[in-house]
Amino acid sequence: MSRVIAISNQKGGVGKTTTAVNLAASLGAMEHKVLLIDMDPQANSSMGSGVTEMQDEDITEVMRWAADPSTLSLERVRGVIHDVENIPFFQVLPSSTSLAELEVELTIDTRAESRLRLRHLIDLLRNEYEFIVIDSPPSLSLLTINVLCAADSVIIPIQCEFYAMQGVADLLNTIIRVQNGLNPALEIDGALLTMYDSRLSHSRQVMEEVQREFGERLFRTVIPRNVKLSEAPSFAKPVLLYDVKSKGSRCYMELAQELLAVLRQRGVI
Ligand SMILES: Nc1ncnc2c1ncn2[C@@H]1O[C@H](COP(=O)(O)OP(=O)(O)O)[C@@H](O)[C@H]1O
Ligand SMILES: [Mg+2]
Repeated sequence: MSRVIAISNQKGGVGKTTTAVNLAASLGAMEHKVLLIDMDPQANSSMGSGVTEMQDEDITEVMRWAADPSTLSLERVRGVIHDVENIPFFQVLPSSTSLAELEVELTIDTRAESRLRLRHLIDLLRNEYEFIVIDSPPSLSLLTINVLCAADSVIIPIQCEFYAMQGVADLLNTIIRVQNGLNPALEIDGALLTMYDSRLSHSRQVMEEVQREFGERLFRTVIPRNVKLSEAPSFAKPVLLYDVKSKGSRCYMELAQELLAVLRQRGVI
């Protein structure tokens, strides 16, 4: 059974991209076939997993094809998907700044269909992968709505900093709206604490606050602040290819294991 997981939080800089790239890479390293879809026009997760050259076609074109089922085919989409060097089970569907133009097109297209384009793509790809991980932009735009309408579940990264919970209520309300509308099956896998620093009292305060809000739906794995995680993207590599022994690399492997255990326990994989 395949699982489509969105990494979402409309706040910028909270660790969405770092989580999307490194969770996907960890699942791939554990030999689960995984596709990372980059739905952020900033294309950070494309670059961070090794797609460094400008492409002729990317998720922008694929989302345009998805507006008309007769133009969307597996063969065509395969042409846009990249292999990740040294992780055979890990592939990427990259984005580019042109995705921002597509966002405008989606706003103009007022049909409900404009929210379901990514879902049409996922329907096509579902049987090809065990996991599809989707990185989201830092907004609650129609790109994010497409992500939430296409996903089985959401992981919400929360940075252990002041104002961490700011915006989380808006995201949860958006998730409820999507559940009450176009994607009733959407679940929350959990909140994930990122950039945790045990020496800082506010890191611990955020942890307590998030624990109160999410209860059981908080991953036990906590991602610490780790310099290797912030360096790896400049080498266009997931952290496990950059420094496999680093704390960051070990924690994302641990997160992948915890996620697998949680999903198995719930009987969804
Ligand atoms: N655990 C971490 N430790 C250190 N730096 C991190 C960590 N997670 C993310 N970063 C860095 O923080 C910045 C924002 O992270 P990013 O994943 O791009 O957030 P988002 O996608 O939510 O905007 C990036 O420069 C990233 O390298
Ligand atoms: Mg990002």
